[in-house]
Amino acid sequence: PTIYGITPTYSRLAQKADLTRLSQTLMHVKNFHWVVIEDSTEKTKLVANLLKESNLKYTHLNIKTHRTKHSTVMDINICLFKTSLYNTSWYCPYWRTNKGKKLLASGVEQRNLALDWLKGYLQKAEDTRGVVYFMDDDNTYSLKVFDEMRKVKNVGVWPVGIVGGMRVEMPLVTDGKVSGYNAWWKPFRPFPIDMAGFAINATLFLEHPEAKFSRKVQSGFQESEILKYFATKDDLEPLADNCTKVYVWHTRTQKPSILNPKKLKRPPVPDDHIEV
Ligand code: UGA
Ligand code: MN
Repeated sequence: PTIYGITPTYSRLAQKADLTRLSQTLMHVKNFHWVVIEDSTEKTKLVANLLKESNLKYTHLNIKTHRTKHSTVMDINICLFKTSLYNTSWYCPYWRTNKGKKLLASGVEQRNLALDWLKGYLQKAEDTRGVVYFMDDDNTYSLKVFDEMRKVKNVGVWPVGIVGGMRVEMPLVTDGKVSGYNAWWKPFRPFPIDMAGFAINATLFLEHPEAKFSRKVQSGFQESEILKYFATKDDLEPLADNCTKVYVWHTRTQKPSILNPKKLKRPPVPDDHIEV
């Protein structure tokens, strides 16, 4: 089966570094189709050139995240209107900013656009066999994780390293079945699994065209939001040696701090014409 890797990405200083690392990993993966969706109103030259030069099979899309004040985004941490603690899908009109925490989940519109593209593509494809993997552009992927996901029948799961305050977040397996999860962050999530910890049979998206991510759920519930269309805990297929091996890490690139050239006594040679 073809692996469809779906990666939202946005412009920032470390973007090219992150995408270079990821694309050069992907060059080693056979039968891989990279769907890259820029969070922007226009496709950028930087991403277009990087994709072209990679020799990967790819699809380049773009859609900008709408950041409205009265966005339906919500979080139990920030909502002033605590109706029910575990309610996953209420609309909270009264929310305040929460220092240091993201208000808006990333990648929702971008991944949904990619899923729309995928459905159109598969409808015309001769061979619809495939598996969908949602990939952050700054994670670290072992080639082994791609071997694992080719075994997926419906929904496969595996551990993710360095995420959710833990060394490893992982499904717990008893007699070859997922019996629970080792997760500390929001363990009440229907599927306490990071985006990097599962893959879904692509054909299932044709059977459930309504399956998509949503702005109406609290943070950390995007994974559960998409998984609910395809599986219950009992259906999950534990991979990576019964979920005992870590083949993907939720690494995050530190925001670089750059000196302001205007504030330097001896101004450096201008470098604006150089793509970094
Ligand atoms: C965690 C999860 O691993 C993500 O899959 C999830 O999308 C995210 O939280 C979330 O819900 O906000 P984290 O490392 O915190 O990941 O998020 P980022 O890596 O910053 O963003 C996830 C993806 O969205 C990345 O590929 C990133 O390039 C992209 N992104 C981020 C955008 O397209 N636009 C943005 O404004 C920010
Ligand atoms: Mn990330």
